[in-house]
Amino acid sequence: MNNEELFARRSKALPRGAATSHPIFVKRAEGAEVWDVEDKHYVDFASGIAVNNTGNLHPTIVAAIREQLNDYAHVGFPVVSYEPYLRLCERLNDIAPIANAKSMLLTTGAEATENAVKVARYFTGRQGVITFTGSFHGRTQLALAMTGKVLPLRSGVIPSQAGVFQVPFPIKHHGTSDEDSLRALDHLFRASISPEQVAAIVIEPVQGEGGFYQASKSFMQSLRAICTQHGICLVVDEVQSGFGRTGKMFAVEHYEIEPDLIAIGKAMGGGLPLAGLIGKADVIDSPPPGFLGGTFAGNPLACAAAHAVLDVIDSEDMLGHAEAIGSRIVDFLLALKENNDVLPVGDVRALGAMVAFEIVTERGSNTPDAEATKVVANKAREYGLLMLPCGYYGNTIRISTPLNIKFDVLEKGLSRLALAMKR
Ligand SMILES: Cc1ncc(COP(=O)(O)O)c(C=O)c1O
Repeated sequence: MNNEELFARRSKALPRGAATSHPIFVKRAEGAEVWDVEDKHYVDFASGIAVNNTGNLHPTIVAAIREQLNDYAHVGFPVVSYEPYLRLCERLNDIAPIANAKSMLLTTGAEATENAVKVARYFTGRQGVITFTGSFHGRTQLALAMTGKVLPLRSGVIPSQAGVFQVPFPIKHHGTSDEDSLRALDHLFRASISPEQVAAIVIEPVQGEGGFYQASKSFMQSLRAICTQHGICLVVDEVQSGFGRTGKMFAVEHYEIEPDLIAIGKAMGGGLPLAGLIGKADVIDSPPPGFLGGTFAGNPLACAAAHAVLDVIDSEDMLGHAEAIGSRIVDFLLALKENNDVLPVGDVRALGAMVAFEIVTERGSNTPDAEATKVVANKAREYGLLMLPCGYYGNTIRISTPLNIKFDVLEKGLSRLALAMKR
């Protein structure tokens, strides 16, 4: 069956809310390459939304999952313990930028952010939660209330929950400075909720869906100081920015601060569903037994995959690769920005291999062109390149290649991007 026939079946069988960015059905994927059911080839700059940091079907990860299948696939951590789960938490505690860390495992990023808030609320005895505009923390109800973008995520549902507030994320070239954001936080504390009522400030150090905007070091350090001053938990959501994507295991390592809780997910499972929560021991240890967990949380196959992910990030120097890939893509984008024959490129930004660029209405302006951005993503697919548009203003193209993308595949992807950007 071809893509069109499968999509006809799809629209009869699935609700339209479960949407797909690109109208293709995949037959096979390996490394940073994807083939659809019509045998068309694509370079993968989406990585299954920043999951395939270690590429699709990395042989070490596949072997680890197969090996685990010799013993057991699921027993349920709330029922009996198993060593791969324990050892994974020990490894996370060792690599996390928290001096005295404890960890536990979950299944999805939304669970990780919700559990972070649940733990912070229990630990502080407070209910308030502050997040940022443009943030994305998941599609479940609390995570959605924390999420700072209405369309399409919060459309048609009551977009708030008691005690959840948002302040503007600082994006200087779109008119919000660090000082503006801190002032908004101060106003929030005066007008809406006192800092003594706030359990957590939750932030993505580099926003994912919001557009790969980076918080500055001084901004993150100010948040840390405010949290410490008022006994608020600082939660970093590293579901998208974690596991080597930014050239460090966790993006928060760029900021020289110690968060109270870190929500993780996506790339840690090497393609299998796995997420987790790392926290300062006194914080994450505060809730009673049974407070945390889930039927599939820390599934043994996913744990086996995660061990292999950590192994290959280390043995294949993927943090070094993230830097090299990021700087090659940024050079390419800066050259594109100077090219009169392509659509106008606005801001180009990167932290390691978390690279993005904006499409604007005219060269030199910052006015977003969301329509053109959608067109470019669609044209790119026609040329054989999978990319995802994103951003608070809808005009960002994010580039999340696997961190082990082969050089020739990367170059092929970039030349297809250049074609898609032609006026
Ligand atoms: C920063 C961030 N937090 C949370 C989530 C939610 O993760 P999941 O889709 O696994 O629930 C995402 C997903 O894109 C994310 O990017």
